[in-house]
Amino acid sequence: MQQKIILSGVQPTGNLHLGNYLGAIRNWVGLQAKNQCYFTVVDLHAITVWQDPKHLQQQTREIAAAFIAAGIDVHQHPVFNQSQVEAHARLAWILSCIARVGWLNRMIQFREKAGKDRENVSVGLLTYPTLMAADILLYQATHVPVGEDQKQHIELTRDIAQKFNNDFGISYFTMPEPMINGPATRVMSLRDGTKKMSKSDPSDYSRINLLDTTDLIQDKIRKAKTDMYPIPDPGILDNNGQFTSDLKDTRPEVVNLLNIYSAVANQPLHLVMNEFAGREFSFFKNRLTDLLVHHLTPIQKKMSDLLNDRNNLDTILRDGVEKARKTANKTLHDVHKIVGFIETGYKNF
Ligand code: AMP
Ligand code: TRP
Repeated sequence: MQQKIILSGVQPTGNLHLGNYLGAIRNWVGLQAKNQCYFTVVDLHAITVWQDPKHLQQQTREIAAAFIAAGIDVHQHPVFNQSQVEAHARLAWILSCIARVGWLNRMIQFREKAGKDRENVSVGLLTYPTLMAADILLYQATHVPVGEDQKQHIELTRDIAQKFNNDFGISYFTMPEPMINGPATRVMSLRDGTKKMSKSDPSDYSRINLLDTTDLIQDKIRKAKTDMYPIPDPGILDNNGQFTSDLKDTRPEVVNLLNIYSAVANQPLHLVMNEFAGREFSFFKNRLTDLLVHHLTPIQKKMSDLLNDRNNLDTILRDGVEKARKTANKTLHDVHKIVGFIETGYKNF
């Protein structure tokens, strides 16, 4: 099997939550043994909406610490803060001259974030996907493991890569594939099972943050929305052992909590449901709390050790930046030639 080139990133905005962990970061860990991976904390993306500078620094370190605590091997795979690899911003500009305004206007994430206030959001919020395309294309990534919400951005990256190749009559950029796997590609809010769990939800009770205390996790799960019926029997699953869309529509919160349990415990849904079918939610919720605390505590401990040794963490990022630059600058050099820029001032940083 050919080695894949994997790239993914998380924004250092707000609290890292269970959706980020189950939908993205945890899946990366299993990919590192056989593939070349790059993992980045996308601080340039974060500033598309206002970030308090001190808070941004803290969050950037926190996300890097979460990658490492979850099990990323920084000796094999660069972990870096995006802003420090200059090629990202430079390629993003070039790609913003390839992408069309109509394409960007259609992006769901942009429409959701801009809402009714489109005239007033930053230009960066609109052009955000051209920067994401640069992140991916600079490393000629073949696969991009993300949660379901990012699929459209990766399809756009392919469109941009294709148009670049067509415009210049050269088969240069690799077409990246989204990798949207696992039982938790879309973890939903604990307060409303029809909304995705999100850093920007005003209610902290809508999500489990990676750094929540045991008491808080317990309280959030206890208060998580459910309905008045018992836990369903595994017979309700479809032929692939998944929830039917009918059940997702009628009992979204139950579907979400069972999915979370199955993902964290690494157990197929039918086994989880066998154990809990017909039981009261209070019983299931106690077990879910224990499972989450048991799983998250060692990660929290590693994160706090990493965050307490800032010099070490910054050194890891600096090493990651240097390694990432080697690949990124080579691509940028090729692109300069393809586009027709004379490299009078280009230093291989
Ligand atoms: P973000 O928080 O937008 O930077 O997202 C970082 C990663 O987490 C991306 O791969 C997202 O697709 C993934 N992600 C974010 N929210 C969720 C969610 N509720 N369920 C599953 N994956 C998610
Ligand atoms: N846009 C992604 C998100 O909001 C974060 C991101 C930026 C990313 N660049 C990326 C994800 C490159 C994967 C690959 O979650």
